[in-house]
Amino acid sequence: MEKGLQVRGLVKTYDSPAGKVKVLSGVNLEVAGGETAVITGPSGSGKSTLLNIIGTLDSADAGSVELDEQDVLSLKGPALYKFRNTSVGFVFQDHHLLPQLTALENVMLPSLLADAGSGKERALELLSEFGLSKRKDFFPSSLSGGERQRVAAARALINSPKLLLCDEPTGNLDEAASAKTGKLFLSVAKKRKIPIVIVTHNLELAKIFSVSYIMHDGKLIAGDKK
Ligand SMILES: Nc1ncnc2c1ncn2[C@@H]1O[C@H](COP(=O)(O)OP(=O)(O)OP(=O)(O)O)[C@@H](O)[C@H]1O
Ligand SMILES: [Mg+2]
Repeated sequence: MEKGLQVRGLVKTYDSPAGKVKVLSGVNLEVAGGETAVITGPSGSGKSTLLNIIGTLDSADAGSVELDEQDVLSLKGPALYKFRNTSVGFVFQDHHLLPQLTALENVMLPSLLADAGSGKERALELLSEFGLSKRKDFFPSSLSGGERQRVAAARALINSPKLLLCDEPTGNLDEAASAKTGKLFLSVAKKRKIPIVIVTHNLELAKIFSVSYIMHDGKLIAGDKK
């Protein structure tokens, strides 16, 4: 079985008051398990749209998305709900942590929703892996920006997803914190052998990853290899 993510011929058009806007016009992307791909490109070029379709938060007009040979776009009902909650992890620019929960409780939350069991133990392991053991009982307001994003990454991994999607995960961080977060994603992909797709405007961050693409005219083109 071919593990990893395969996106083929993805097309997406939005209706707007000014008429139809074609955002994606045949996007192809392959990311093997253990590999981290980074996507850059101008604002409005369709990067978030692509991640949202891959993660089943938005629909496509044509094309296919396969994850570990599973046809993702045809999922419906309970299977779709389960996929979204357990097979794919999201990290966004704004960490989306719940302010009234501690770091540990935030990381555990998706495991409670998925009824996946032993959430606390796994959450503690993830916090330790991400250098956050001493921050486990802190509320998000008492964490630094980089720490918050690492908690968000731990939360995205609590249900052992088969894919991690990150949209501007270091958008609010300084250079040092961005680099630290980027390296963390590299090690997460290697250790878990899952594909990771990261969208970023940060060209310094993009350099950390050996597989890079640029969104241009609704298509992905291969960027410079290191
Ligand atoms: N729900 C929607 N309805 C109509 N148009 C949309 C919708 N979502 C996105 N678009 C349009 O699709 C285009 C691509 O948006 P998208 O958010 O994917 O860009 P992006 O590359 O992520 O930009 P940024 O770098 O600013 O985050 C934009 O022109 C946007 O206005
Ligand atoms: Mg975006």
